[in-house]
Amino acid sequence: MNVSVCFNRVPPKLFKGESLDRISEEGAEKEARAVKAALHPLGHNIKLVPLGADMIAFAEELRASRPEVVFNLCEGFWGDSRKELHVAALLDLLGVAYTGTAPLGLGLTQDKVRTKDLLQAHSLPTPRYVLVRLGELFPKTQNLTYPLIVKPRFEDASLGIAADSIVANEKALAKRIRYVHDTYRQGALVEEFIEGRELNAAVLGNAPMEALPVSEIVFKPGLKRTIVSYDGKWLEDSQEYAQTAPVCPAPLKAKETLLVRDVALRACKLLDCRDYARVDIRLRDGVPYILEINANPDLSPDAGLARSAAAAGISYPKLIDRILNLALKRKETARA
Ligand SMILES: Nc1ncnc2c1ncn2[C@@H]1O[C@H](COP(=O)(O)OP(=O)(O)O)[C@@H](O)[C@H]1O
Ligand SMILES: [Mg+2]
Repeated sequence: MNVSVCFNRVPPKLFKGESLDRISEEGAEKEARAVKAALHPLGHNIKLVPLGADMIAFAEELRASRPEVVFNLCEGFWGDSRKELHVAALLDLLGVAYTGTAPLGLGLTQDKVRTKDLLQAHSLPTPRYVLVRLGELFPKTQNLTYPLIVKPRFEDASLGIAADSIVANEKALAKRIRYVHDTYRQGALVEEFIEGRELNAAVLGNAPMEALPVSEIVFKPGLKRTIVSYDGKWLEDSQEYAQTAPVCPAPLKAKETLLVRDVALRACKLLDCRDYARVDIRLRDGVPYILEINANPDLSPDAGLARSAAAAGISYPKLIDRILNLALKRKETARA
């Protein structure tokens, strides 16, 4: 079977953010190679199709490769993560079957604020929050309790997240909002900081969608702030990287595990996730606060989703094959 594995390249100079942000963006090709290697023994004819600045060239290359299924790993278009949904929409227009979440779910979850609006409307726990749009200041009339955390509205992979993101007073808050506005050129999401355990809940499949074993990021003593900062996630030589360690399954009480899996499944269904997704959660006083939903999470062998799958006895090649088959099944259902 012909399978095209698509991933996005980034421009030599990003139009926003920090220069080091490139490290996370550049992981896509490595991820695509890992997916290709996992699919290879299954006898498929696999082609890597990179998406660069030229969308037409991409569409033509894809069409020429005549894929039965596209493995869609694109997380944006030429450095713009907000165009992640456009790539899936293009695949829809090209009439090819592809893995992962459809445009609507990608667009909703890309927007952390809209996601929280929906979670709140459906009584799913999420930290209390305020959106500060570009050009606006933090409103005087609100009732959030310090410490707060300030995040870019539309980024992922801990872009724009550092110890300074956590603020304890108005002055530090205003400064960090300015930083997010100026550096990331987008609204700032201000939310209550949840001092608690950091959990990742992965889901797999559609009908039924299943929750995989919950993973925990354990913070070792000595860390300035117990968060998954950009450095802690990507800079292997940093102190923050050395002081965060994933553990899967997370040592939780049975009741907590059930609760975490349940809110993750509800959130993924609510936000229209498909095939696989990962929900980031902070657990405090028995409440699993949802931070965000990753509808297109990293599928690298050493990333969270594969870790949770491994804990469920699903090897990396099996996981990739399962995801491929979900797209294939969708195609067959559409045909029937
Ligand atoms: N409200 C919060 N309370 C505590 N920690 C948070 C909160 N929001 C974010 N963090 C920390 O910042 C990290 C990145 O935030 P997240 O919302 O998951 O964005 P990203 O899309 O960059 O992963 C989280 O994994 C967590 O460690
Ligand atoms: Mg996250």
